[in-house]
Amino acid sequence: MRDYLQYKFEDTPGFINTFDELPLWSATFGLLLLKHVELKRNLTVLDIGSGAGFPILELAQRLGTSCKCYGIDPWVNANSRAKQKISNYGVTNVAIIETSAASLPFEEGSIDLIVSNLGINNFDDPPLVFKECNRVLKPGGKLALTTNLNGHWKEFYTLFEDALHQLGKTKLLPALTKDQEHRGTIESISKLFTNSGLTVNRVFEEIFEMRFLDGTAFLNHSFIKLGWLGSWKSIIPEAEQPAIFGQLEHNLNAYAEKMGGLTLTVPMAFIEGQK
Ligand SMILES: C[S@@+](CC[C@H](N)C(=O)[O-])C[C@H]1O[C@@H](n2cnc3c(N)ncnc32)[C@H](O)[C@@H]1O
Repeated sequence: MRDYLQYKFEDTPGFINTFDELPLWSATFGLLLLKHVELKRNLTVLDIGSGAGFPILELAQRLGTSCKCYGIDPWVNANSRAKQKISNYGVTNVAIIETSAASLPFEEGSIDLIVSNLGINNFDDPPLVFKECNRVLKPGGKLALTTNLNGHWKEFYTLFEDALHQLGKTKLLPALTKDQEHRGTIESISKLFTNSGLTVNRVFEEIFEMRFLDGTAFLNHSFIKLGWLGSWKSIIPEAEQPAIFGQLEHNLNAYAEKMGGLTLTVPMAFIEGQK
């Protein structure tokens, strides 16, 4: 009781190492999830694709100790980070399990709530993960996820397509379209729910904007280099990359000059299904 009265913050290198490191990208979607997700006592909660511990650590603390929470992710280094945070923050109701959500280590009908922040675009086999979610959910249990939708960064993709047209590289357009369409629509994601036997009961859509000074700033941003550039480069033969990225950067910069900055829109959704 009143354990919080015993808490003493110690400003150690180990603590600061795990403090204040949630990517803005994850945070934006996470806020949408935390705005709508159900908070109730005595839940068993699972976060699939919990990465470095978000949102499961936040959710575990917002729910309190009547709830037992688990984060599932196959990413070894992210899991060790999440475990460091659990220890540094003294969170007692969450455990990290290193595995794929394609095969959940839980009994049938044992989970009340499954969440996933930006997970589904990263699963190799989303229908299999949804099927597993349905298996482990209790009757009436919920799966709530947030994701970016098709239409994501449409300004960027339009200028990318322009660059391919300008350089006569239209044969690369289908691969670029495929990259864009990797993000689902409300309809295609709802289908994943219903095909697995879950009923979609709540959908909330929002749009947010990401602003950059210009294309050069955008393409050199650590987040872009880390999370996106690899997939764009994989579409283009290596020998053609300097010319195509040069044209793309030029297009982005010209657009930013005309518009007073590079503003990219991101449609996103919270979708909740029930067993
Ligand atoms: C974009 S990150 C999101 C991480 C975190 N939820 C956040 O909001 O920052 C996607 C996560 O899904 C994980 N992932 C990929 N395939 C997975 C699978 N089959 N099962 C569970 N997690 C998976 C990745 O390792 C990564 O941590």
